[in-house]
Amino acid sequence: MNIGVLVSGRGSNLQAIIDAVESGYIKAKISVVISSRKDAPALQRAKEHGIEAIFIDPQDFWKDREHREEKRIEYDKKIIAELEKRNVDLVLLAGYMLMLSPYFVNKYKNRIMNIHPALLPSFPGVNAQKQALEYGVKYTGATVHFVDAEMDHGPIILQDVVPVFDDDTVETLSNRILEKEHKIYVEAVKLFTEGKLKVEGRRVKILKE
Ligand code: GRF
Repeated sequence: MNIGVLVSGRGSNLQAIIDAVESGYIKAKISVVISSRKDAPALQRAKEHGIEAIFIDPQDFWKDREHREEKRIEYDKKIIAELEKRNVDLVLLAGYMLMLSPYFVNKYKNRIMNIHPALLPSFPGVNAQKQALEYGVKYTGATVHFVDAEMDHGPIILQDVVPVFDDDTVETLSNRILEKEHKIYVEAVKLFTEGKLKVEGRRVKILKE
């Protein structure tokens, strides 16, 4: 099984997947890492582990407001071309900051996963940890889900919970959530590679042995 990872930043979730592949816990190959940002530390991490790392410039996509939807598809087609070249079966979004086009999502239906730092459907979008803190919830967490055309919306694969403490800052809460992110993302990818995920509508069932 070939995995492609889309990133835009730090790449700690990418690192967790790399570690799990290198230790043999996940039996698959990370065939390519693609970044929407040239200076993403995630690209460096990939290279250090001998993984092909590519930057695809989304500039056109941002610049041309009038034709944004067409440009978005054009951009996604560039990514898809790289994925197809390497027969990628599973696409992971790991801190990827752009929305995928419906074209991309349909092409890889139930084969794209995302990690989100909150218990969806609570606190979708950016700064989920800050949103949770400001809302005053006592528990938040992390969610791995399949990606559909709406933001942070597709069928939920795994979630895990963390408490929110009175003295938490966005940073301390984010760190607590991040530990869970790394664990559940690795688990979800492992389950997928073993053929153990069954999607029924919005419900993702985990098949036993
Ligand atoms: C993580 O918090 C992830 O949940 C969110 O973006 C952040 C990416 O962090 N989607 P990293 O690049 O994996 O370190």
